[in-house]
Amino acid sequence: MSNQESELNLPVKEKIVPESLKTKTIDPKDYLTFHKLTLDNNLEFWESIAKELEWFKPWERTLDSSNPPFYKWFVGGELNASYLAVDRHFRSWRRNKVALIWEGEPWDSSPREVRKLTYLDLFREVNKTAYLLKSYGLKRGDKIGIYLPMIPELPIFMLAAARLGLIFSVVFSGFSAQALADRMNDAGAKLLITADGGWRRGKVVQLKEIVDKALEMNKSIKDVIVVRRTGSEVRMEKGRDSFLHDLMSQVPNNAYVEPERVKSEDPLYILYTSGTTGKPKGIVHDTGGYMTLLHLTMRQVFDLRDEDVYWCTADVGWVTGHSYIVFGPLLEGATEVMYEGALDYPEPDRWVSIIERHQVSILYTSPTAIRTFMRQGERWITKHDVSSIRLIHSVGEPINPEAWRWFFKLVGREQVPFGSTWWMTETGGIMISHTPGGYLVPMKPGTNALPLPGIGAEVVNEEGKVKSGEKGYLVLTKPWPGMPLTIYGDPDRYVKVYWEKFPGAFYAGDYAIKDQDGYFWILGRADEVLKIAGHRIGTYELESALIQHPSIAEAAVVGVPDQVRGEVAEAFVILRSGVEPNQGLKDEINRFVRDNFGPIAVFKDIHFVSKLPKTRSGKIMRRVIRAVASNSPIGDVTTLEDEASVDEIRNAYKEFM
Ligand code: WT7
Repeated sequence: MSNQESELNLPVKEKIVPESLKTKTIDPKDYLTFHKLTLDNNLEFWESIAKELEWFKPWERTLDSSNPPFYKWFVGGELNASYLAVDRHFRSWRRNKVALIWEGEPWDSSPREVRKLTYLDLFREVNKTAYLLKSYGLKRGDKIGIYLPMIPELPIFMLAAARLGLIFSVVFSGFSAQALADRMNDAGAKLLITADGGWRRGKVVQLKEIVDKALEMNKSIKDVIVVRRTGSEVRMEKGRDSFLHDLMSQVPNNAYVEPERVKSEDPLYILYTSGTTGKPKGIVHDTGGYMTLLHLTMRQVFDLRDEDVYWCTADVGWVTGHSYIVFGPLLEGATEVMYEGALDYPEPDRWVSIIERHQVSILYTSPTAIRTFMRQGERWITKHDVSSIRLIHSVGEPINPEAWRWFFKLVGREQVPFGSTWWMTETGGIMISHTPGGYLVPMKPGTNALPLPGIGAEVVNEEGKVKSGEKGYLVLTKPWPGMPLTIYGDPDRYVKVYWEKFPGAFYAGDYAIKDQDGYFWILGRADEVLKIAGHRIGTYELESALIQHPSIAEAAVVGVPDQVRGEVAEAFVILRSGVEPNQGLKDEINRFVRDNFGPIAVFKDIHFVSKLPKTRSGKIMRRVIRAVASNSPIGDVTTLEDEASVDEIRNAYKEFM
């Protein structure tokens, strides 16, 4: 039983309600009454939020549901995400307000670089960059790839692309060549932006080398722009690669590029995420619905105000960064911190020093980060002043109550709202929160609390809604602004993966429980998807990476619990005949996968076996492996082809215990 489940019956009097808040607390019952109104008058509700954005042309139809599940929001409306995030503030009193406080990783007794960009600076940079992209002959609807470390050029290129109506696809800079190539091929990107390297834990990650390798497996990319970051020497291919600073020297300083009037339902970006089988799916997000959802959540969930300093510790390469580093905070004219490197480099208190130095007031972070800090010890926190913090949220995976309590005490000083926001790449923005509708509901450690206004969420099984306290599947019962347009290039898969299991509802792929107060407890993935340190990785992807190793014939991967990372992978491999199993080979396989997939692939162990539990039709029964791994009953194995395979897995465990 998970920690979450064991806490379900927490007596009401022990629910934690902070005393000194700006956000008003509300009784969950009262909130749910209001919430019901927003569901009953759903379109009116969303219209009222969307109206707060600036549209070049107002929409004619709020929701087009003529071809479900391919819903279109705010049809007929025209807007531009770059205009909303940059120009609007440039044209207001916020012109000289700091937008980005960027801190580089390198450190000699203090950060070596802190760069502050005002909305005026951002306006200039985005326009110059858009001017440059335009000079490549790119036009509306063309795709570009972005493979950059956490430097200001990353949001700038995203905003510049949006300005021109280009569809960008950002690839997390921790992914390796194959993953980058797959994504660029699928998207058909014409141009790729990268850097000469990125800083990570004091070392340079050679991004350009990875790009060179990836482009050997790609035909669509004709041009590469390279940002100078680390100064490392890189190979430049003539006619293909150019340095950004060389190109920029040709761009007038006061360049201005008229923002395209894109349609509300025009794609803003494609972001790849892992699924149960097959290659990662390109989730396509629209413009109008997406910006509307970000507006709602920045205002209500984060209670963002002009005096705040906001910091989301994610990487822009993931959806959290797209929504809550780039488009959300900038849409609202926030001042935000963007940090380049590892949160605990060079010392475990790097992140606390950032809070103190920049007086961060709103913090958005992850359970894995919190558990890492916990392990490093509270002295790293108590030596700093964190009293500027007034609101905290976490995201990415379930937060265990122990970690929640620890962070609530040390950083939240037992008095600030601290929630675990549930959402996913597909939803575009936050769906379930402790601060829905701009109110705080009493906090229960480990829960995700209540759906946002306008968002319909339920826990169901094949028979329908489950009773409160019972485990089921999480579904979203109404279309929402920010929902995917489709899976890029594969609309059938979009229907199949999300809309077929529970007709009429969006299937999220998570197990959940709803308690007697209506609070949601998201328990974890119900499919073959792992969450390693909050990063979403398909078991299938890791298996594909493993079998590319010349010594491996077959592989099965399952997730096993990990104290810090929440979950890590465990591999069972069958070696090719004649290959000797030994520790050296294990290390080599580990390195091989990290090099070929990316360092986010963390294996607890790699076991050598001669058989894998499979069904008669040849499908690997991961359920059986997981059961052995967690020492629980293996259940029905009548479809198993060869029972001896289970003993092999058992022995593999004994051997390494
Ligand atoms: C999966 C989506 C949303 C941005 C980061 C992850 C898990 C996410 C929580 C939370 C419990 C959570 C779910 C979900 N998840 N947030 N607060 N509590 N689980 O986006 O990579 O698309 O992953 O992350 O399992 O399905 P993603």
